[in-house]
Amino acid sequence: MAGRGTGRHTLSDFSSIARIYRQTATAQKSAAERLFWMLGVERKDDVLDLGCGTGHLAQEMRVLTDGRVVGVDPSPEMLALAHEAAPEGIEFITGFAEELDMPGEFDAILCNSAFQWFEDEQKAMANCFAALRPGGRMAMQAPARHDYCPTFVRAVGTLAADPRTSETWARFHTPWTFYETADEYGRLFTDAGFALVSAEIEELREHATPERAVDMFESGAAAGYLNPACYEDGFSEGYAEAARELILRDFAAQVAADGHIELLFYRVYVLARKP
Ligand SMILES: C[S@@+](CC[C@H](N)C(=O)[O-])C[C@H]1O[C@@H](n2cnc3c(N)ncnc32)[C@H](O)[C@@H]1O
Repeated sequence: MAGRGTGRHTLSDFSSIARIYRQTATAQKSAAERLFWMLGVERKDDVLDLGCGTGHLAQEMRVLTDGRVVGVDPSPEMLALAHEAAPEGIEFITGFAEELDMPGEFDAILCNSAFQWFEDEQKAMANCFAALRPGGRMAMQAPARHDYCPTFVRAVGTLAADPRTSETWARFHTPWTFYETADEYGRLFTDAGFALVSAEIEELREHATPERAVDMFESGAAAGYLNPACYEDGFSEGYAEAARELILRDFAAQVAADGHIELLFYRVYVLARKP
């Protein structure tokens, strides 16, 4: 799969935020804890970490199994950091979920905070189904619903009202795939042939300092909202700076008397099995 996917990775471009992601992506990391518990990695399992990013979950898997551990991600920069940090015995492969071609090679697939970036989620699910052996399972977590984090959605909404950003903001096309209900996520798996074990959308609340809210924004949402590829005709110099200023100003306006922001995230968790 290495080297494939040229020209497709601009919408999910983690290249510019790979380092900040490694340092600050605590929301994605804590969401993964429940996924590990759901997946129940066993000692003989061959496992795939799909959309592995900087590889910290693949590293955790390396400790849990004596089988193969493979991480797949389209971002060379994220994978470079994964290589830097990883112990021996993890294979990292450059590629998109939509191009995964590893039939029957795995007992378990973990996919944490990557699904929302898939451009063809049906194709990705079909590939995951094919990559599993009979009885294999897949656990997926991703932000869900169009208002996946109301604080972020409200803050970027202010871009529509400022003369420095309004015109460009009108040309923003979301790079994300969100479904509104757990049933819709579940159906995606059953349509691909999986037997659904569970699908739930959880509300996770965090009492965050404004600095932490900014870190969380920069380690995920910024890869879409501040990515020129997500705008028809890109954006001019100065747009990202003005947009950041407005977003931070709105975060500041959302700070409560105790100096914190109440951040709410909707996250979907799915566990499915290949019959
Ligand atoms: C928010 S990061 C999550 C990384 C890691 N799973 C974690 O939990 O820290 C999202 C990752 O999805 C990757 N990604 C984007 N589009 C993808 C696709 N079509 N197939 C597989 N991975 C993709 C990005 O390159 C990025 O590394």
